[in-house]
Amino acid sequence: MKIFIDTANLENIKEINSWGILSGVTTNPTLAAKEGKEFRLLIKEIAQVVDGPISAEAVAMERDEIVEEARSLSQIAPNIVIKIPIMPEGLAATRILSREGIKVNMTLVFSVNQALLAAQVGASYVSPFVGRIDDISYDGISTISDIALVYGNYGIETQIIAASIRHPLHVVEAALAGADIATVPYDVLKMMVKHPLTDRGIENFLRDWEKIKNLK
Ligand code: E4P
Repeated sequence: MKIFIDTANLENIKEINSWGILSGVTTNPTLAAKEGKEFRLLIKEIAQVVDGPISAEAVAMERDEIVEEARSLSQIAPNIVIKIPIMPEGLAATRILSREGIKVNMTLVFSVNQALLAAQVGASYVSPFVGRIDDISYDGISTISDIALVYGNYGIETQIIAASIRHPLHVVEAALAGADIATVPYDVLKMMVKHPLTDRGIENFLRDWEKIKNLK
């Protein structure tokens, strides 16, 4: 399972990218609004840092307007993927865009049916929102495993991005459920790398190395 970062904060993206583990970035209007920067400039700067797919969300609501917005956003950099909400106009726009070779990440997905529909129109990615499903007392991870099963049954190539990840266990569960990608907030990525036994192990090794490093 690949790891994307779910943020529009350039400093956080640069820091995590320096670990060498990042395969892409997802943003949304809420994340972009926290940065207080012109949206296209923000996306351009992110695309200059990370090689992999960078999701930028279209906010138009009518098919032709979504298509125009997506075409324009896709000009920002070759690795831009257009996030489009799952809705009838979004599906219709995605059909047109996928035939033009513009990659779409169908977002705000909460069910297997929505994921099936996204695949019909050639979405490259589908983003089920695990945490928000949990928030309404349903099981977000089951949605991921059900989509993975159904996609597997029919050889569907749309990649599943486990989104709305809230804690490190969500990442483990998304991987076990068959997600292709997890898009993970900065704070959760920082938690993923930590383990008290690793810290203690490093401390002990460094202490013991001091005892022998000058021996000839
Ligand atoms: C997905 O790509 C979204 O940006 C994001 O994962 C939503 O997460 P939230 O439910 O924490 O807002």
